[in-house]
Amino acid sequence: MRGSLSYENHQKGLNAMKIAVLASGRGSNFVAIAKSLKKGLTSAELSLLVCDNPKALVLAKAKKLGIKTALVKREEYKDKRDFEAAIIGYLKEEKIDLIVLAGFMRMLSNDFVSGFSNKIINIHPALLPSFKGTEGIKDAFDYGAKVTGVTVHFVDGKMDHGPIILQQALKIDENDTLESLEKKIHKIEHRLYPEAIRLYCEGRLKLEGRKVRIL
Ligand code: GRF
Repeated sequence: MRGSLSYENHQKGLNAMKIAVLASGRGSNFVAIAKSLKKGLTSAELSLLVCDNPKALVLAKAKKLGIKTALVKREEYKDKRDFEAAIIGYLKEEKIDLIVLAGFMRMLSNDFVSGFSNKIINIHPALLPSFKGTEGIKDAFDYGAKVTGVTVHFVDGKMDHGPIILQQALKIDENDTLESLEKKIHKIEHRLYPEAIRLYCEGRLKLEGRKVRIL
């Protein structure tokens, strides 16, 4: 993850940017991203949804929006390597430039991540490095934090760890319940993730070690 982000995206021309979302569940971020792009967020295309869970609501949402889906079930492959090779096959077939993790409930291997260096981003529903893991909203709420938020970051080999692209803080009110907090967090996510994608697709993110400069 060291050095500057390459500008090959720019050289390709903005129209050529192709995005894949990887998701395992409800898909509210997927829908927010799809709708923002449709409304002209930036001239990139959401070309593919990769999903590992046949029961995920996101699959039906993608079909409704007319976005190509690839269902890749872990149990159909002998090991993680083969499972990831199948995902990579779909990404290469679509010539994907940016991989957007949106509630994808599997850790990607170091080999996968280094094969798409600086081309994978993730959203986390807390202010990293606090409250990593799958229960970021609940963990901040149960801890009694007064402030939490949302983080969009590049993905490196470690969980919820790569360089931070955007963060937005949110106060936790005394009257908040876990449900009200979840709603507020998701509302922020649905604005912040499209914004990070726009910056990426427009070549406005410059990586300097752990720091992401916004040009
Ligand atoms: C989001 O809260 C995201 O921050 C986390 O997983 C959740 C996915 O929600 N990584 P959805 O499937 O996009 O509704």
